[in-house]
Amino acid sequence: MKVLVVGGGGREHALVWKLKQSPRVKRIFCAPGNAGIARDASCVKISAEDIPALLAFALEKEIDLTVVGPEAPLTAGIVDQFQAAGLKIFGPSRAAAEIEGSKVVAKEIMAKYGIPTAAYAVFTDPGEASAYIKKIGAPCVVKADGLAAGKGVIVAMDEQTALDGVRRIMEDRAYGDAGNRLVVEECLVGEEVSILAFTDGVNVIPMISSQDHKRAYDGDQGPNTGGMGAYAPAPVYTPEVHRQTMEQILIPMVRALREEGRLYRGVLYAGLMVTSQGPRVLEFNARFGDPEAQPVLTLLETDLVEIIDAVLENRLDRIQIKWREESSVCVVLASGGYPGSYEKGKAITGLDNLPEGVVVFHAGTAEMDGATVTAGGRVLGVTATGRDISAALETAYRAVKNICFDGMHYRRDVGKRALDRCR
Ligand code: AMP
Ligand code: GLY
Repeated sequence: MKVLVVGGGGREHALVWKLKQSPRVKRIFCAPGNAGIARDASCVKISAEDIPALLAFALEKEIDLTVVGPEAPLTAGIVDQFQAAGLKIFGPSRAAAEIEGSKVVAKEIMAKYGIPTAAYAVFTDPGEASAYIKKIGAPCVVKADGLAAGKGVIVAMDEQTALDGVRRIMEDRAYGDAGNRLVVEECLVGEEVSILAFTDGVNVIPMISSQDHKRAYDGDQGPNTGGMGAYAPAPVYTPEVHRQTMEQILIPMVRALREEGRLYRGVLYAGLMVTSQGPRVLEFNARFGDPEAQPVLTLLETDLVEIIDAVLENRLDRIQIKWREESSVCVVLASGGYPGSYEKGKAITGLDNLPEGVVVFHAGTAEMDGATVTAGGRVLGVTATGRDISAALETAYRAVKNICFDGMHYRRDVGKRALDRCR
């Protein structure tokens, strides 16, 4: 079969890498892809958000299956449009993807169905939001309602930071219409974990747990980023937390979405805070996490095409999904300055001769005059598997030492929480 992957980051490279292993896949296209993806698939110069052009391409090439990486095309309705044209596509519909596209919609569904999450209030007026913040005080969390590339969340330890957040979102309109409404919520304390699950709208099969590293610098310091690394599985996700997550969060949420007329098919991502009271939802996403997909997909044994077919044919309860009993880590190599401004076009060396058990997923890379150069903030995801987290980390960091580009920056403490828990 011919497969089209939509997107061009590390997550999409991991998807291409995994799909390519399927005996059923003959050819993979990726729009727009990147320099690393170009070695595994045919890259097509179409933006992940240009749905009409993607649709025309899929029809012309008679694509058998489209897999969507990022949230923007999902919340814009790519799945509805492909299905209306008779094309097979993996991901939630526009209505279902709204659980990521609107934090207010996600919170309202969770409140209505009793799914544990932080207490919250919704505002359309900056004055009212500010008055509420002055009443409840800090710490609190201020979130723009709509998509803001992970930047629309302010965890405020003092009142002034929260009030500045309201101004930035609603008055300066830093995230445009995403700031028409905002959510102010209770600040939760605990350790975060990401649980991605496959669902056909009825059955829910969780993937192996993972943990992202959102801050730019070691020790969870510095600004929030798209993710500086990830590992799987996450020891904080104990069997008891898993039981609570399934019973109180994933199964009820999938049922709620069905009852709300937002039947959810695809990957449901629950970002959780494991608190002393049990897991609480921080956010739902409508897709694989980036960089969580990189370690998670390297541990997936089952053919991803088989799983996708089971989702699309409503028979997820009839397949077995197998995971390698190992650990996997992904260390993100970023451009100097990221998540602030950074330079592009730096030559990358050392991508050959990698240690066994390592795969480097490309994110912001491009090909220039025969060389691979940097083309984004997050450049590469050096991903390694091993018998346990410390073996995987040892291999990943050994591979990182080979790789070099001007200004390269990475966290040296990926997986530290897991190591601490295992000790
Ligand atoms: P979100 O995009 O909603 O996941 O928020 C981004 C990050 O902000 C999360 O990964 C958490 O680190 C943090 N965060 C979001 N909501 C809360 C909350 N209610 N309490 C504490 N931290 C939060
Ligand atoms: N790693 C966080 C996300 O994909 O949203």
